[in-house]
Amino acid sequence: MRVAAIPGDGVGIEVTAEALKVLAAVADVYGRTLDVDVLPWGAAHYLATGETVPSGGYARLREFDAIFIGAVGDPRVPDNRHARDILLGTRFELDLYVNFRPIRLLDDRLCPLKERRTADVNFVVFRENTEGLYVGVGGRFKAGTEDEVAVQEEVNTYKGVHRILRHAFEHAAATSRRRLCMSDKSNAMREGHALWQRVFRELSPAYPTVDARHLYIDALALLMVQDPGQFDVIVTNNLFGDIITDLGAALQGGLGVAASANLHPGRTSMFEPVHGSAPPLAGRNIANPIGAILSAALLIESGGWRDAAAAIESAVRDAVAARQATADIGGSLGTRETGDVIVQHIRRRRI
Ligand code: NAD
Ligand code: IPM
Ligand code: MN
Repeated sequence: MRVAAIPGDGVGIEVTAEALKVLAAVADVYGRTLDVDVLPWGAAHYLATGETVPSGGYARLREFDAIFIGAVGDPRVPDNRHARDILLGTRFELDLYVNFRPIRLLDDRLCPLKERRTADVNFVVFRENTEGLYVGVGGRFKAGTEDEVAVQEEVNTYKGVHRILRHAFEHAAATSRRRLCMSDKSNAMREGHALWQRVFRELSPAYPTVDARHLYIDALALLMVQDPGQFDVIVTNNLFGDIITDLGAALQGGLGVAASANLHPGRTSMFEPVHGSAPPLAGRNIANPIGAILSAALLIESGGWRDAAAAIESAVRDAVAARQATADIGGSLGTRETGDVIVQHIRRRRI
């Protein structure tokens, strides 16, 4: 596989190093070839050159089999311009319309909910990833005055809603995750979310084996905490998906362990931990690399390396169970040492 890696900013740099270390180990152990190009895009590059994504940068990304991003965001760039171009730009320009975020508790001990076990927290979220409130349509009038008007439009297209809902239904129909929940706010957002309702009603009859239902997003947030075991597949729009996947990360043990894939089936896709650049943790060898490492597992799985991806997941589980991890999940290791331990588990299991 040919992979472009963008470590980015803050802890993104540290967790990407561990993800790449683990990928190199599985490539070695399973006898596969992995070529990684590390691209220096991020805040430091932007501040030094004025360039966020170089011209032709997205076209260059499309030439790889997959892309890995650590995290972007830096207090020295308060308007987040480079992060929008690198992260949202990649999602939009490569048309990565499926943001797949598994919510899976790896160890009973990590769940913040009383008496919930690994079997209770095991579902997937499909977040629409190319439209909604993220498209940047809008503007400000009389900015900076007491008369300021700020408009940010939510864009929902038939094509965009249809393809993400269809993808979620196909996943539910093809796996043992048969209970699908579509979530919107159609009681208040009567135009845009009526479209979600319409497409949901259109698609549901085509999937008779899928137990499909609808929840308003506020009720979904409540039930994710009260009784997460009732969910298999959740599908929702860009902003709601962003918010509920941080909530989902909390159910799994925190942002340090949450992984994601940004997909356009059949095309170059991008993989990244759910967390950001965590500036207070940066440069201290304390960030949890597991979210990044599990995202790297999703990356090779998408490239067909199923055995190697499964080996990474098992090794992560072994490390977590033995508390060989960072402090946020109850361990006492550093970022690098956690990566080393996971590599050791991969090599040990293979012997
Ligand atoms: P954040 O995800 O960086 O941090 C939120 C919380 O999670 C903090 O308490 C942090 O300490 C903790 N955390 C995050 N990653 C962790 C890890 N690997 N191990 C242990 N704990 C971890 O979110 P934020 O503070 O809202 O944002 C910081 C910057 O990151 C901002 O510039 C934001 O825009 C950016 N951001 C980028 C991405 C991305 O690149 N995908 C995602 C979210 C936020
Ligand atoms: C995420 C992040 C991004 C998002 C930010 C950094 C723009 O929070 O990937 O979840 O909102 O999509
Ligand atoms: Mn987010």
